[in-house]
Amino acid sequence: MKTHDLIVIGAGPGGYTAAIRAAQLGLDVACIDKEPLLGGTCLRIGCIPSKALLESSELYREAGKSFAQHGIELGEVGLDLAKMLSRKERIVKALTMGVASLLKKNKITSYTGTARLVGDKRLTVTTAEGDEELSAAHILIATGSRPATLPGVELDGDRIGTSTETLSYGEVPPRLVVIGAGYIGLELGTVWQRLGSEVTVLEYLDRILPGTDGEIAGEAQKLFKKQGLNFRLGSQVSGARVAGDHCVVECVGVDPIECDRVLVAVGRKPNSHGLGLETVGVKLNDKDFISVDEQFKTSSPGVYAVGDVIGGAMLAHKAEDEAVACIEQIVNGTGDIDYNAIPSVAYTNPEIAAVGKTEESLQAAGIEFRKGVFPFRANGRARALAQMDGFVKILADAATDRLLGVHILGPRAGDLIAEAVLAIKHGLTATDIAHCSHAHPTLSETFREAALAVHDRAIHI
Ligand code: NAI
Repeated sequence: MKTHDLIVIGAGPGGYTAAIRAAQLGLDVACIDKEPLLGGTCLRIGCIPSKALLESSELYREAGKSFAQHGIELGEVGLDLAKMLSRKERIVKALTMGVASLLKKNKITSYTGTARLVGDKRLTVTTAEGDEELSAAHILIATGSRPATLPGVELDGDRIGTSTETLSYGEVPPRLVVIGAGYIGLELGTVWQRLGSEVTVLEYLDRILPGTDGEIAGEAQKLFKKQGLNFRLGSQVSGARVAGDHCVVECVGVDPIECDRVLVAVGRKPNSHGLGLETVGVKLNDKDFISVDEQFKTSSPGVYAVGDVIGGAMLAHKAEDEAVACIEQIVNGTGDIDYNAIPSVAYTNPEIAAVGKTEESLQAAGIEFRKGVFPFRANGRARALAQMDGFVKILADAATDRLLGVHILGPRAGDLIAEAVLAIKHGLTATDIAHCSHAHPTLSETFREAALAVHDRAIHI
């Protein structure tokens, strides 16, 4: 039986980051994944391919609709969808190969197979060549999550599918119904709407992007509607099925909707079954997430878990942060996470990014705050880019001036939020931000102006 110091199950952002950090700290590490392409959902069928398509579809839309305002005449703009999809595949392949070479460089033993715990510090990995038994002082589970579905919605792996199928439609569906106005529904709905689909988003709640600051979500919805997305809020989907050459989606209390394809984007559930967790007493919570303590220890000694499989925000960078903290806990006895300083980003156009508390949550908690808002239309660079929609909103503690929450709807919001993460993580004040020079003309000036606006001192508005 081969023995390692650490065996990581899952080679997604949580798993491969943990494996690399552990190897850096001198452990003998093995990493097991059932897929030959490493990188997990994020790299293979999630963040990366969706961003590739968001970028391509946005350029297609701009070429057709926006280039003319720059004085660029293109004539008729054509779409070669097969080429667009193969570009996406090339990006995925390059990055997954990059993960494999990082594991190799760090002398991590990689297994392609299915892992199953079989006893104290022991597991079997089932590979194409057969079963192999391994043991390790520490076992880390980073098996991620998979799309959830709804009762009555019959996924057929083709026309009624999840994000996985939607990333590879072979033709632009004339009518696409998206169930769920969360991150996946809006990002992938936007891709196909830009490429020519008539997209209808059905959302159970009376708002989009639950959990996002309400003012930002409301403004974003108006902009997406203007771009052509149809929203039916307050729609409770009760079923979806293929009917001949089309699909039918049923909602409570209204007529069924006919369409060509359906994207089910109603959240994700943990990959916590089939791992033999019961053999070593690893406990799950009532939603099937693995229960862990602050050091990512499960209820079984020597077994740890990080990432989507333990719940919380299902974000690749949250899994990476947990992976590093968990390994440092194992090796050095220290390592923690400030969950309040983990950003979230929706890669729509404009992008939506946030860190810290929302206005609603501060109000609910009775925390007094001051609010500074600055619109992109008053920023020179945003005008030059012809991307003037949206605003930066800073919420600062009324007593201490420390930043409590930052919410951005606007161009490159996902990049701009990094400065806010730094500020929140290190307890900076709105005045600290206002005292920092920001290059002109850049989009980052909006962040400083919003910080100035906290004290009614914005210059350009
Ligand atoms: P989500 O939880 O973000 O949104 C699901 C939406 O479906 C909710 O608005 C919910 O109210 C709605 N819904 C649920 N049941 C419904 C019903 N019966 N009828 C109509 N609507 C219904 O889930 P999503 O978009 O599937 O994303 C899954 C996870 O992946 C999320 O945790 C998200 O954070 C993560 N993700 C993050 C991305 C990013 O950081 N850019 C991109 C994609 C996914």
